[in-house]
Amino acid sequence: MPDVPELRERAAELDAADELAKLREQFVLDEVVYLDGNSLGALPVGVPGRVDDVVRRQWGELRIRSWEESGWWTAPERIGDRIAPLVGAAPGQIVVGDSTSVNVFKALVGAVRLVGDGRDGRSGRNEILVDATTFPTDGYIAASAARLTGCELRPLEPAEVPGAVGPRTAAVLLNHVDYRTGRLHDLPSLTSAIHDAGALAVWDLCHSAGALPVGLDEHGVDLAVGCTYKYLNGGPGSPAYLYVRGDLQDRFDSPLPGWNSHADPFGMSPSYAPAPGALRGRVGTPDILSMLALEAALEVWEDVSIDAVRAKSLALTDFFLECVAAYVTGGRVESITPSAHAERGSQVALRCPDAGEVMKRLIERGVVGDFRHPDVLRFGFTPLYVGFGDVERAARVLGETLG
Ligand SMILES: Cc1ncc(COP(=O)(O)O)c(C=O)c1O
Repeated sequence: MPDVPELRERAAELDAADELAKLREQFVLDEVVYLDGNSLGALPVGVPGRVDDVVRRQWGELRIRSWEESGWWTAPERIGDRIAPLVGAAPGQIVVGDSTSVNVFKALVGAVRLVGDGRDGRSGRNEILVDATTFPTDGYIAASAARLTGCELRPLEPAEVPGAVGPRTAAVLLNHVDYRTGRLHDLPSLTSAIHDAGALAVWDLCHSAGALPVGLDEHGVDLAVGCTYKYLNGGPGSPAYLYVRGDLQDRFDSPLPGWNSHADPFGMSPSYAPAPGALRGRVGTPDILSMLALEAALEVWEDVSIDAVRAKSLALTDFFLECVAAYVTGGRVESITPSAHAERGSQVALRCPDAGEVMKRLIERGVVGDFRHPDVLRFGFTPLYVGFGDVERAARVLGETLG
């Protein structure tokens, strides 16, 4: 029989010692244990008031003047600079806009074009490697990017990349954290293996940005994309972002060169001349309402260190695995998330034969995770608002549900 009081006491002690615990007040939460921030982050309390101001005053009163006076026009790069420190990027390399899928397209076609422009002695490369375990959209877009650029697409496991990347490879598209298993891939060593073979590395940061340090500049990543509605809490459908490393920007040839990326967008020239810098990643008129909701959401990161977030994330997932081992008996679940810290993102995925039904019952009992086909229970741990008491309760309710 599990030692319930001991785990509850430990949870209370861990919560009392948690330096990030006070951040929970900055989110709209109730008594539900919310472990689905790896799908849709919770609402930060400052967002509704900001959206109200954007709609009523900026749009309702200032109207067209807001493009200048409320900073609408420059929002994509301004908010990109706000995300930059969270992913280890210096300013001027990230623009916010469009969906992750669209940014995967820009980044991957842009990478193949960078390699093929012959300006750095790399040409004749006609292969794209893609993570075979990727979130499906990246694979679909990579297939289309390969067709458009005349490349062959080779899906493979991320661990196979060092042995597979070679003189034919133009670009490699990888996920930093696997969306199903929560496995963290080794971004520094994979990026360096890709570079050793003369190819470019494109990383999808959807499941790592805001949950752990990424170190884009430090590790020399070439291009990266990510969403903002998970650990960055930007809201449903909030815009994604594109990182193009500073020294590649003047050669970045976007496959979607809309007027917002023109050097003189209001010159209305019939011919295209790309803007300098990260701005080249823009396409068309930004979705201002979502974008400014995201900007308000990012204010919760003021004075928060991503290293502290990572430390708490690992402590939460460790404690969850310990509580599951204590409360869920009889081999009813099996963790498919690596136990080694160096290989774990901020979620725990448990294989369970009737996972869809089990997750429904958990949600009815106030523990919200999600189900991934065919048999995975996914629990995401957002260190900004999940506590150790939540973790203990989630594992206990899981044990009772399965028992
Ligand atoms: C790794 C990964 N890439 C891409 C996406 C989706 O991209 P989009 O923002 O285009 O819906 C997700 C969504 O969950 C994801 O987990």
